[in-house]
Amino acid sequence: MAEGNEKGCVCVTGGTGFLASRLIMKLLQQGYAVNATVRSHRDGSPKDTSFLTNLEGAPGRLRIFVADLDNPESFSPAIEGCVGVFHVAQPMPDLEDPEDDDEAKYREAVRGAVRIFELCVKAGTVKRVVYTSSESAMVFNDEGAEVVDESCWSDVEYIRSSISREKAYSICKTMIEKAGFEFAHKSGLDLVTVIPPYIHGPFITPQCPYSVRLSMAWIFGDNDPIIEYQSVIPFVHVDDLASAHIFVFEHPNAEGRYTCCAVNTTLGELSAFLSTRYSHKYNIPLIKVSKEKGFKYPKESSKKLLVAGFQFKYGLEDMFDGAIECCKQRGLL
Ligand SMILES: NC(=O)c1ccc[n+]([C@@H]2O[C@H](COP(=O)([O-])OP(=O)(O)OC[C@H]3O[C@@H](n4cnc5c(N)ncnc54)[C@H](OP(=O)(O)O)[C@@H]3O)[C@@H](O)[C@H]2O)c1
Repeated sequence: MAEGNEKGCVCVTGGTGFLASRLIMKLLQQGYAVNATVRSHRDGSPKDTSFLTNLEGAPGRLRIFVADLDNPESFSPAIEGCVGVFHVAQPMPDLEDPEDDDEAKYREAVRGAVRIFELCVKAGTVKRVVYTSSESAMVFNDEGAEVVDESCWSDVEYIRSSISREKAYSICKTMIEKAGFEFAHKSGLDLVTVIPPYIHGPFITPQCPYSVRLSMAWIFGDNDPIIEYQSVIPFVHVDDLASAHIFVFEHPNAEGRYTCCAVNTTLGELSAFLSTRYSHKYNIPLIKVSKEKGFKYPKESSKKLLVAGFQFKYGLEDMFDGAIECCKQRGLL
């Protein structure tokens, strides 16, 4: 066991991502050793992981493994010997074609995720797997609920017929989470899932993360962020979300799904908040009515997580202040 590794070793997939990198930072702070998986560049050259290897506690406790979801077996060396696995890696929908609805691709994505869960069982040391799901696997159905929680599931056929944005991503997240629980039920794997809404806040990645760029569209002067289509816009601070992942990993009685939403805001509230706080620096439009058609976004309840004892630390101010500061440091604002 590596020096200073008090809590054992855990694997975090997608280590170069927004959430995973903050999760790795927190795990190291809390005494874990971490096996982080990262992808290579398309030409096979290694990615710059110095923002991870320079983290406090990383020397001697952080190991970087190359693994790609296109080849699920590649995750095996990173999982071996671990007490826990945080499966965070997922292609994000930034360049998604709205017409892109490919059954074979979904099956492949599900097969890949389930193979990773199988590798966790095979390792024989993994006590619990925490999978990062998405609100996309919870909110999209025709039930019209005003408030949703982990008892709700998105309906793949409804997404296919009625949701135009991030369709393939939402279908994948729904299918993977469902297949994960089916596999866990059959195999005895202790699988817990965390369901985040928009993740926002400070970042240590060299690039501005997809969801931060989206949430900051008005700050960047863009007029058509995806959130303009939502009547309710739910957010969680990346550090609260990382803490919630560790919380459900360590909680002796954690089971099933956990919604992790700190703030349900509306388009009007968000626009007013941003105008009040930042209009002296950025040209924030005052928008009161969403462009929403068809699907009515619900609020998200994190009651199950709160009843289990978790506490959110951060609000919208921390999310936007932290993200703006990081964008400034990288010369993006
Ligand atoms: N951000 C949000 O608002 C949001 C909301 C709900 C749920 N989630 C979920 O939260 C998790 C983390 O999201 P994030 O915002 O941190 O996303 P992110 O910054 O894009 O990170 C995703 C990670 O997955 C990796 N990845 C993508 N395709 C891969 C592949 N084929 N093989 C191996 N790794 C691959 C990426 O690697 P590269 O760095 O090499 O690209 C990246 O490290 C995801 O599971 C996502 O579905 C996110």
